[in-house]
Amino acid sequence: MQNNKNLGAKDRIDKLKKVINHHRYVYHVLDRQEISDAALDSLKKELFDLEQEFPQFITPDSPTQRIGGKPLPEFKKVTHAERMLSLNDAFSKEDMQSWQERIFKLLTPQEKSGVNFYCELKIDGLAIELKYENGVLQEGSTRGDGTVGEDITNNIKTVEAIPLSIEYKKNLVVRGEVFISKKEFEAINKLQSKNNLPLYANPRNIAAGSVRQLDPKITAVRKLDSFAYDIILGIENHTHQERHELLKKFGFKTNASNQYCKSLEEVLRFYERVKNIRNKLTYEIDGIVVIINNNAIFEKLGVVGKAPRGAIAFKFAQSQAITVIEDIKIQVGRTGAMTPVAVLKSVQISGITITRATLHNEDEIRRLGVKIGDTVIVGRAGDVIPDIIKVLPQLRTGKEKEFIMPRACPSCKTKLQKSDTEALWRCPNPRCFARQRRSFYHFVSRASFNIEGLGPKIIDRLLSEGLVQDPSDLFSLKEGDIKQLERFGEKSAENLIKSIEEKKEISLARFMYSLGIRNIGAETTIDLARHFRSLENIKNAKLQDFDEIVNIGPIVAKSVHEWFSQKDNLKFLDKLKKAGIKIKNPPKKAKGKLSGKTFVFTGTLGSIERELAKEKVRELGGNISESVSFKTSFVVVGLEPGSKVSKAKKLGVKILDEKEFLKIIK
Ligand code: IVH
Repeated sequence: MQNNKNLGAKDRIDKLKKVINHHRYVYHVLDRQEISDAALDSLKKELFDLEQEFPQFITPDSPTQRIGGKPLPEFKKVTHAERMLSLNDAFSKEDMQSWQERIFKLLTPQEKSGVNFYCELKIDGLAIELKYENGVLQEGSTRGDGTVGEDITNNIKTVEAIPLSIEYKKNLVVRGEVFISKKEFEAINKLQSKNNLPLYANPRNIAAGSVRQLDPKITAVRKLDSFAYDIILGIENHTHQERHELLKKFGFKTNASNQYCKSLEEVLRFYERVKNIRNKLTYEIDGIVVIINNNAIFEKLGVVGKAPRGAIAFKFAQSQAITVIEDIKIQVGRTGAMTPVAVLKSVQISGITITRATLHNEDEIRRLGVKIGDTVIVGRAGDVIPDIIKVLPQLRTGKEKEFIMPRACPSCKTKLQKSDTEALWRCPNPRCFARQRRSFYHFVSRASFNIEGLGPKIIDRLLSEGLVQDPSDLFSLKEGDIKQLERFGEKSAENLIKSIEEKKEISLARFMYSLGIRNIGAETTIDLARHFRSLENIKNAKLQDFDEIVNIGPIVAKSVHEWFSQKDNLKFLDKLKKAGIKIKNPPKKAKGKLSGKTFVFTGTLGSIERELAKEKVRELGGNISESVSFKTSFVVVGLEPGSKVSKAKKLGVKILDEKEFLKIIK
């Protein structure tokens, strides 16, 4: 067993090394990027952790043991005064604690009590070394492979934050970071885009590309900046903080946000503070650097592989990470759509544990080439469901399994259907239990009946206990029914009954939305409600009656019409009525000054929320549409508008800026 585990670990380590080496070569030598920084860091972290667990497999050629890439052949080579090291990464409080524990094991009790920290902002730029002789800048170089770097003296001299001469006349070696501001980054990318050139992925890429130009004139037009963070030779000092003070005295730009911290608790607080001001900074940072402040202790701790033991990069949570797909399951949606979902080996992204990611549909699985057992990059943007960004096939063991999309519904076994226009397979059976359960979730959700405290877990329990069959049964539940459920207290039962009771009265639009009719979004239900003004009218509408509604096309019309023609659905409506649901119909359409006018919004409005703007238009009798057509009266354009503007121009639709729009709705 142990042997198997070892073999598995060794194989994984070997493969990780290969993949990391490939991406590091592309990144450092070619200044290109195939995967994100976050994904590469995540790979490195896994390798580092595995090597910690199985130190017998650490080899001198491991990426954890070496730094940078080979220097570019075009540049003169420079041998660094001292090896230019790199840092190991930490991503959490626990990582930081185990770093401190590792260090403490190597120190005497007296040394331990002398441990405190200097914390710096970790600038997302490029490391440089500067040599001063007799007070004059003689040489500037990149890190290269840590021992030998590239001579970029002439380029460095274009960076105004770096002094060309200093008062101190003895030999001195200074290290720091060159970088580019967020503003400059955007300006350069705008220019790239104007000239139809590829965009840079991040400020680091531009800084690297600019500093490693063979023609310093090109470097000069890029407004590079620099912070100094270390002195290597030439001067007595006892703490890292003192080095920073000296650097400042000599005329180097040091970072005023850096801070001395007397304990790990203080470091953690500093980290949180920096995280909060991150967006306000004019340059990008990707975390903080934490260094043992006492130089003697820092030296004693020495170096492992590429990194000093006495310093660590405490990075901000990442929006991407690597993990393994343990299984692929099918989720049945309320409209019958079959969504393949990847079950993941749990992984942290931006501080949240992720165990599932959507694979969208069969085409997406094919596009990614994903198999069960694959190592993948997962990403998460904001609150969006995480998705799989890329498969890393180099990490395959040969045991991965192909996923085969089922041809029958996993819940009700009905044969699945697929239309020509969609990538999705669907279960056509409206009585399918999985579909009904999803419809139930939808019925109580925020934009529908909005029943507080009633989430999927409780619905599942109510269903499995047989207390409800469909959402209409909710309204006849009694406190006693719920109290008997495990883990349900008297108070929570009472609260739930109360919040169900409170929601018995509902607007027609919300009611329509809660029915979960296919192709009907919240906006559409508002249009339907405003036009038909009662459930009866919608129910009795003929297909052609939908034609006169501005935003409603034939697909929506057919969906609604079909829904109201099904016996089961009519029965359900009846049950809801009997359960005491009261639908509030919208008032008779006011003949406002915007009646007959249709508005489309694009871009961000500065002084009014988009939803509020829409409401205003509706109040004045106008319509809202999501897309520009010949029926559109106005396109309101905010900041960073989309393609709707060019469409409006093409169709000759009148364009309003925010000011003009506000005047109209005043
Ligand atoms: S101290 C032993 N301080 O982060 C290395 N590094 O892997 C000591 N970096 O490429 C580095 N800001 O160029 C230090 N304030 C800062 C930094 C910083 C950015 C970079 C450094 C290196 C990487 C660490």
